[in-house]
Amino acid sequence: MGERLPLIGITGATGAVGGRVARRLDAEGHRLRLIVRDPSRLDPLPERAAEDGPPIEVRTASYSDTDAALEALRGVDVLFMVSAAESPDRLREHLTFIDAAADAQVPHMVYLSFTGASPRATFTFARTHFRTEEHLRNSGMAWTILRDNFYFALLEAMAGQDGIIRGPAGEGRVAAVSHSDVAASAAAVLRTPRDHVEQTYELAGPEALSLGQIARTLTASTGRRITYRRESVREAYASRGDYGVQQWQLDAWVSTYTAIAAGELERRSDVARLTGRPPMTFDQHLGI
Ligand SMILES: NC(=O)c1ccc[n+]([C@@H]2O[C@H](COP(=O)([O-])OP(=O)(O)OC[C@H]3O[C@@H](n4cnc5c(N)ncnc54)[C@H](OP(=O)(O)O)[C@@H]3O)[C@@H](O)[C@H]2O)c1
Repeated sequence: MGERLPLIGITGATGAVGGRVARRLDAEGHRLRLIVRDPSRLDPLPERAAEDGPPIEVRTASYSDTDAALEALRGVDVLFMVSAAESPDRLREHLTFIDAAADAQVPHMVYLSFTGASPRATFTFARTHFRTEEHLRNSGMAWTILRDNFYFALLEAMAGQDGIIRGPAGEGRVAAVSHSDVAASAAAVLRTPRDHVEQTYELAGPEALSLGQIARTLTASTGRRITYRRESVREAYASRGDYGVQQWQLDAWVSTYTAIAAGELERRSDVARLTGRPPMTFDQHLGI
């Protein structure tokens, strides 16, 4: 009799990273359990013939629902957790889910954190990621931390209707990364988790770009004139003041840029080490 295949639990499978991780590992015949809030939002995975591997299991649980999470997590050998949607409750949701995984005796959790996670990080969400990481490191489970940089998709969404990327990023640079390289890196860890215990990896792109360079690249790829306008921090709060969002959200938006100015997004990349090939450049991502 063959050895039982490990059961890989994947959260966020209705989203960009988790969905890509699930499709990659499914194509390789791994045993998967997708843990989602709403199974109807899952992209259909290709039908698999019985001889090609076990069917994919789907369980419903949000991070804050301990009972559902316990039920969903029992039997999982290695669990991939993407961070929750941003909200004032996000940290509590993360800690609740980590506790549920430890209680369900999941041996190993892989957490998708954010680069520069630290209690003193300029980017406010990176502070929440640090507290989540700390909780995981103290949970008793084996752990691996993947710290992704900003996604290329975020850079593409930075310009306003008027084609201006405005923010207090100064001349700082950001080593943004593609969703597919983040997913490929996570899949590499989940395939052989024991090789990655107590490791923290930087999932960054191959080059650190200033917002001026990003604006020029977007102009070349879209044909629409995109420019970068430096703001002061005061101007940044004022220009976003009538968006009608809460203070925590405004602080996060503004600190996206001040973190770039502070050099906190200019990082080396562990993607090639994990996947065996260099991460995609912004030009490649845009197809130029
Ligand atoms: N590095 C960056 O530039 C950047 C930018 C934005 C966000 N992020 C963070 O990175 C994470 C992964 O990125 P992504 O692009 O894959 O995001 P995404 O496409 O928005 O997917 C997020 C996934 O997480 C699930 N989720 C969110 N909150 C949850 C909760 N409380 N309990 C259980 N599941 C929850 C979502 O489920 P539903 O389908 O039910 O909503 C979805 O499947 C995001 O969730 C966010 O925390 C990073």
